[in-house]
Amino acid sequence: MAILVTGGAGYIGSHTVKELKDRGREVVVYDNLSRGHRDAVGEVPLIVADLMDSKVLAKTIEDYNIDSVVHFAAESQVGESMQNPQKYYLNNVSGTLNLLKVMLDKDVKNIVFSSTAATYGEPEEVPITENCPKNPTNVYGRTKLMIEHILSDYDRAYGLKYVALRYFNAAGAHISGEIGEDHAPETHLIPIIMEVLLGKRDKLSIFGTDYATEDGTCIRDYIHVTDLAQAHILALDWLKSGNPSRAYNLGNGNGFSVKQVVDTVERVTGREIPVEYAKRRAGDPAVLIASSQKVRDELKWQPQFDDLDTIISTAWKWHSNHPNGYEGR
Ligand code: UFG
Repeated sequence: MAILVTGGAGYIGSHTVKELKDRGREVVVYDNLSRGHRDAVGEVPLIVADLMDSKVLAKTIEDYNIDSVVHFAAESQVGESMQNPQKYYLNNVSGTLNLLKVMLDKDVKNIVFSSTAATYGEPEEVPITENCPKNPTNVYGRTKLMIEHILSDYDRAYGLKYVALRYFNAAGAHISGEIGEDHAPETHLIPIIMEVLLGKRDKLSIFGTDYATEDGTCIRDYIHVTDLAQAHILALDWLKSGNPSRAYNLGNGNGFSVKQVVDTVERVTGREIPVEYAKRRAGDPAVLIASSQKVRDELKWQPQFDDLDTIISTAWKWHSNHPNGYEGR
């Protein structure tokens, strides 16, 4: 029996594949490499194909004796999702519907789904618990929330069991320095700061200094990618033991402002980061902090890298050793 990891060549997917392999689990990666990187996968079978390709999906499930799926494959850029919603509804929603159809045809009924804090939108209260209202403010978040609804309907009607993991701000890189974050274009705060340190950008633009926070910049809950990866393994084990479907938040419960992140990077790396103050970025909530009590209680999830210094030092280790990401390795 093996685990199919869709999007396993991407950032969070590849870290999850590594943790699964390190625990001796049989893994097959399914990725169209539109965003992912072959070199991120390591010594694991990689099927290069699209989620819409039912024949390849079905054959992969048969050939490798797949009994559960971890589903990362998706488009995930908030800004792009507003400009090109069709791409997001097709890739994320239709792609998942197709995956689920093939899974049900092949009687595979366990799935761990990559969801997001963006399903909540502008929170009414922090820390955010799983029961907080869900009003996504962008198309990306809406696609993920739609898929959560689809999973819930398929559970009721067909007995599909799922764990939806709502990530807050994934950050950092594997402590080995072997794999890390490589998006093109890059839109996330910490890798952009790394690009400034590497001289690939002149400065960091801080988006908004007039938020209702102590220093005026947005507050986020940064969670180490390996801690996220561990939660997927716990979720797989939860489902394999016959437990019911669940949705969990994944964050550390600590908020850091953009300015605090900049200060921490300067302290950890001993380098100065040129910044400019810019206008707010559309759709950014002021504060996003998770309550992850539910996943701690039920799955016994325990983050190992929950301090910002470690998150940043692992990111810096990856970026300084791979200034061009996976390219040219
Ligand atoms: N930021 C800057 N300058 C930059 C980039 C980001 O000031 O150049 C700020 C943003 O405005 C935000 C914070 O840094 O306040 C974090 O921004 P990121 O883009 O790194 O992350 P987001 O919080 O926007 O996005 C994360 C996930 C998304 C998810 C979203 C939910 O990466 O996948 O949370 O709101 F959709």
